[in-house]
Amino acid sequence: MRQVSGICPATNKETMFSKFKALPSYFGGKRKLVKYIFKPIVKKEGTFIDAFLGGGSVSLYAKAKGYKVIANDIALRSCIIGNAIIANNTIELEKEDLARLFFKTKHENFIKKNYCPKVFTTKIAEFLDNAFAAVRLVENDTKRFLLLHLLIKFIISCRQFGKFTHTRDTLDLEARKWDWPLRSKSHAPKNLRMIQNPMLTLEKLMLEINHGIFDNHQQNEIHQKDVFDFLKTVAGDIVYFDPPYPGSSAYEVEYGILDNILAGRKLDNKPSVFSDNDADEFLERLFKSAKHIPQWIISLGQNKEDIGVRPEKLLAMVQKYRKAEVQMMEHKWSVANAGGRSQSNNIEYMIVTH
Ligand SMILES: C[S@@+](CC[C@H](N)C(=O)[O-])C[C@H]1O[C@@H](n2cnc3c(N)ncnc32)[C@H](O)[C@@H]1O
Repeated sequence: MRQVSGICPATNKETMFSKFKALPSYFGGKRKLVKYIFKPIVKKEGTFIDAFLGGGSVSLYAKAKGYKVIANDIALRSCIIGNAIIANNTIELEKEDLARLFFKTKHENFIKKNYCPKVFTTKIAEFLDNAFAAVRLVENDTKRFLLLHLLIKFIISCRQFGKFTHTRDTLDLEARKWDWPLRSKSHAPKNLRMIQNPMLTLEKLMLEINHGIFDNHQQNEIHQKDVFDFLKTVAGDIVYFDPPYPGSSAYEVEYGILDNILAGRKLDNKPSVFSDNDADEFLERLFKSAKHIPQWIISLGQNKEDIGVRPEKLLAMVQKYRKAEVQMMEHKWSVANAGGRSQSNNIEYMIVTH
């Protein structure tokens, strides 16, 4: 097993790829690992397949390296991010686009009725209800994706740790009790967004998004499919697999409220089969379905030693098809990713095929 060292993002002074700011912070996002993911890739051009797009960091990096990117995720939230930033090579947001979010539009107060005051203050819930209704009327597909992406970034940037469970701060803000929500430098900025004019946050986020839009002269593609359906038809040179980690909290649960808001109704938010602690069968199926793609890079991790899939076990699954090796990462999740979870037992690794 090879140890990849020098990655300790908690204290990391290395500068990160600045275009990552165009993306929302996302649980399990791989911004801090991209250098290590791309190093063992044999083909330096061609088609890069990102089978679990998530928050888009690996696809954005592949796009910047000039690959044609074909990305997929089962979730609408990820496909919005992908269509706005990965498939879109040229169109940026303008101030006039932001103004559209404030045009009075008919809606059913879905957010205010269901998520106020625990998740959003009345001020922000009313803004979001109107904004989502207004976005649905935007005719240009790319502009619509950009505005939805902006609203995803807005929502995540209002919530402590990017999570929907920490409700005390929001309840206090709604009751106009400021001391606790504004108690520290780390909590105040997010909480202020819940009480100030949304335009202030939107203008800042618009600049971040526009900075991430560039042309890599490829027709990049975004798909919203179950990974097994996606693999049936996709072709390319490299596939990157970053599935939910077996035994860890499911994306459909963590982002359930965001997914409901995007759908405009309550979904069943059924956890992915890959989040199950016993996901071996699905991982085996994943590799069997990817036989036609020459090189595989797989990321996986364990929150605790006895949870999820151990590196040797995943290596053995991959070695049924290819020569491969394990690379252990000295990775620590940022607070935004971990949501305050203990990091002491985290194991993060990659399987690389030759
Ligand atoms: C670990 S995250 C990917 C993170 C991403 N690499 C990044 O850097 O942001 C895993 C993703 O898998 C998606 N997912 C879960 N089950 C899936 C399935 N059956 N098919 C496709 N995508 C799935 C989730 O919605 C989630 O976005």
